[in-house]
Amino acid sequence: MDRSNGYEGIAPEFLARRGSGRSTGIGVNQVRKWARTLPPGAAVIDLGCGPGFPITEVLVAESLSAFGVDAAPSFVQAFERNLPNTPVVCEAVQDSRFFDRTFDGVLAWGLMFLLSPEDQRRLIERIAGILAPGGRLLFTSPAEPIVWNDAMTGLESRSLGAGEYRRHMSAVGLSVASEYEDEGQNHYFDAFKDAPSLANPR
Ligand SMILES: C[S@@+](CC[C@H](N)C(=O)[O-])C[C@H]1O[C@@H](n2cnc3c(N)ncnc32)[C@H](O)[C@@H]1O
Repeated sequence: MDRSNGYEGIAPEFLARRGSGRSTGIGVNQVRKWARTLPPGAAVIDLGCGPGFPITEVLVAESLSAFGVDAAPSFVQAFERNLPNTPVVCEAVQDSRFFDRTFDGVLAWGLMFLLSPEDQRRLIERIAGILAPGGRLLFTSPAEPIVWNDAMTGLESRSLGAGEYRRHMSAVGLSVASEYEDEGQNHYFDAFKDAPSLANPR
């Protein structure tokens, strides 16, 4: 059964286009800027990492300790060739064990809106569970609550919209620091996990 929302089926086209370039492509500048806000060596998991080029490679180039998860076997094989020293697993984010550890950063570029609304909410909860206090989350999804057909797979995609994403993140201890767009009109939610208060109420 395909867990990649149609991406395994279009892997050759994807690999020939977006997945072929190192450090170039839509989103690279935004991810690099975000990566530079994390300390060198910080552990970052890239959910829906694809073949590792161009996005995960930015994390590696910025001296972060990167990990990848993707449900498409062809992409995971390409990832292993592209970034041989970076751990990657072929798993769906809905049931991945996320390497059984916590992270300083979670990145999900072009993934969230491929999932059902229920799975998007559940993934946000799971992300809150694997982020260290103060850890960062960057994901893309349209600011408007809309449904459309994915340009590459033709399958239905849906954004919960900024209001619902913010409400749901807030409910699980994630705060949005900023939202912005790139040259491809991808909308970014740049958030962090609230650190526990040091106050000691009596
Ligand atoms: C639009 S592509 C983005 C790939 C990569 N992040 C990039 O920026 O080039 C979406 C990726 O999400 C992966 N994906 C889709 N559904 C998934 C799921 N349920 N679990 C894990 N990966 C999934 C696809 O295989 C594909 O690699």
